[in-house]
Amino acid sequence: MEWKARWICESREASDVCPLYQKQFTLEKDVKQATLYVTAWGVYEAMLNGHRVGEFVLAPGWTSYETRLQYQAYDVKELLAAENRLEVTVGKGWYRSPMLGWENSWVQQNQMKKPAGLLAQLEVVYQDGSMDTFATDSSWTWGESGIRFSEIYDGETYDASMMPRANMPVRVLDMEENALLPQQGEEIREQEQIHPARIFTTPAGERVVDFGQEITGYVELSLTAHSGEVVELSHAEVMDQEGNFYTANYREAKAKLRYICKEGAQTYKPKMTFFGFRYIRLDQFPGGPMNAKEEKFTAIVVHSAMKRTGYLHSSHPLLNQLFENVIWGQKGNFLDVPTDCPQRNERLGWTGDAQVFIRTACLNFNVKRFFTKWLADMAADQNEDGQIGHIIPDIWKWKPSSAAWGDAAAICPWELYQAYGDLELLRQQFPMMKKWVDSIGIHTTTPYLWTGGEHYGDWLGLDAPSGSYKGSSREDFIASAFYAYSTELVIRAGEALGEEVSAYQALYQNILKTFRATYPEYYTQTECVLALYFRLCEDPEKTVQQLAEKIRACGHHLETGFVGTPYLLHVLSSHGETKLAYDLLLREEYPSWLYPVTRGATTIWEHWDGIHQDGSFWSDDMNSFNHYAYGAVADWVYQVAAGITPLAPGYQKVKIAPQPDARLEELEAYLQTEAGLVHSKWHKTPAGWCYEVTTPVCAEVYIGTRKYEVEPGSYRYYSPIEVENH
Ligand code: BGC
Repeated sequence: MEWKARWICESREASDVCPLYQKQFTLEKDVKQATLYVTAWGVYEAMLNGHRVGEFVLAPGWTSYETRLQYQAYDVKELLAAENRLEVTVGKGWYRSPMLGWENSWVQQNQMKKPAGLLAQLEVVYQDGSMDTFATDSSWTWGESGIRFSEIYDGETYDASMMPRANMPVRVLDMEENALLPQQGEEIREQEQIHPARIFTTPAGERVVDFGQEITGYVELSLTAHSGEVVELSHAEVMDQEGNFYTANYREAKAKLRYICKEGAQTYKPKMTFFGFRYIRLDQFPGGPMNAKEEKFTAIVVHSAMKRTGYLHSSHPLLNQLFENVIWGQKGNFLDVPTDCPQRNERLGWTGDAQVFIRTACLNFNVKRFFTKWLADMAADQNEDGQIGHIIPDIWKWKPSSAAWGDAAAICPWELYQAYGDLELLRQQFPMMKKWVDSIGIHTTTPYLWTGGEHYGDWLGLDAPSGSYKGSSREDFIASAFYAYSTELVIRAGEALGEEVSAYQALYQNILKTFRATYPEYYTQTECVLALYFRLCEDPEKTVQQLAEKIRACGHHLETGFVGTPYLLHVLSSHGETKLAYDLLLREEYPSWLYPVTRGATTIWEHWDGIHQDGSFWSDDMNSFNHYAYGAVADWVYQVAAGITPLAPGYQKVKIAPQPDARLEELEAYLQTEAGLVHSKWHKTPAGWCYEVTTPVCAEVYIGTRKYEVEPGSYRYYSPIEVENH
């Protein structure tokens, strides 16, 4: 399409109030086709003749706005009449909120001063073939909308008692927008509604609604009230040790909703923000908080419209809840950008978290479009010297790369290729992968290793020295191990693409040799895990025994953080320690994946000890209860316990090698792959294990030590239960 529209904005300095832009127009002929193209500096909601245009919430989403600003195209033919009113409200969104909540930089301050720009163009094609265009220009008007305040971290204030009037002339901005691109990612949409599980009064006397599930989204209110009465809500993830409403872990994010009522029956939900929460506190309510009834509140779940593809189910209730929590962790943090968490003053596209979780993400949902867009932002934000930011969109550009965070540039494209087999996509991302690996060579202080620099290390590892967030694994060790892995992925991607990779092959051999010479010993669980998973150790059998020893020596539990945890069970099961991997998976005491489940978690926690046994918190400062990273354990359940892995990218050939454990009666995985539905189930029978597998393509099935080459179809196998006495 060709843009004829001009950017328009309010005619006076931007304030907290969201502007409402308006255009009235008449159509005199029958319409054959009508498309509305819109984007904004912020987030927008368009209404045509009183009807919402499209279902995209928080459009145009979050991209690296300087170079990539998505616009949306909506078919609006059905909404048109002879006399028309097009209204668009523009909120601050990610564009003009103080993103990177703890920073107060001039970049951020400048960003927040930008006007609430709008670019819109309605193209109408009549039945007789003629056309009309109604585009933003000086003929549009504006006024203050009912949204008096709206911002990503702090929430929204809406005044329903006022009557918005868009009767002031707009300012037309004299500028070209060169960053426009058509919608590339998934739309963010309302997905589910959740009714309160209960409403109760806390020991502190506060009225609280519990939705029974931590979600990302907002609450819809339905009530009858008098004009000017106020509803004010606060959001929380958990209750504290005394059972009181707890918001300290949101840090500076106010996460409040304030609604000024109009007269009579009314329904309201926020339009320009979102919250991560399970509970709401009724700070103000017409007639007092005690007057509020459950049926007045509905929680609306909002996330990117990705299609669910994977399901896990077992005979173990706590494990099933863990699987649910992994799914909710993904729903809650896949809101246009893969975020660390949805509640506190972050909600950022941390690269490390995304690379840790991407394989699980691809199994649970179809995230091809979602990641295609985010990785395009990553490529756009990559520094000239190849460095990759800590967060994408990169609004923290001046920070040097961290190992395992920047390595998302190699790992994410490779995982997407494994899941979806799209060679063209890999081809687009390949230059970014190469540049990333090249940049390590530029920045290291030691050839063929990555030494020096600032890193997050094994973030939140339990073996961290007191007062530190970083586990004890050596940072240079981790950085150099990831250097080897990313180089290996560049080679594998290059080979798949038929590219010349001999220089990277030589580089890899040098890294391997230098790594082995420099790091003959491994001191932590995570060091063992990386040496094994990245195939850097010379004696894997010895290393896995060392790892097993370390696990037993500290009380039979993991001590790994963000870097080691996603590979921990994989390296154990690939080297004959499947039982130990299950020990860790099924452990219920702290620290473990099931410990938070025993504490009632409905999402994945950031910390193994987010809530201690006695109900106290590990800290207020860095304590999210919806941080998807450790949910990466689900990929081990799909790929090892249920045993489904792609033998060729995009599951064009499949391997199914289930590995049951006698402590479970049953485990089942469904996976809707690009090639069709793959199913694997095992359950106990009096005669032994029964395995059921279904494959849409040729598959290699491994039952115990036996291998079967099978055609597409469904099969059943039996084998004796060999290990009973755990
Ligand atoms: C985020 C993490 C992120 C980290 C970097 C935190 O504040 O919540 O998930 O990866 O910073 O270490």
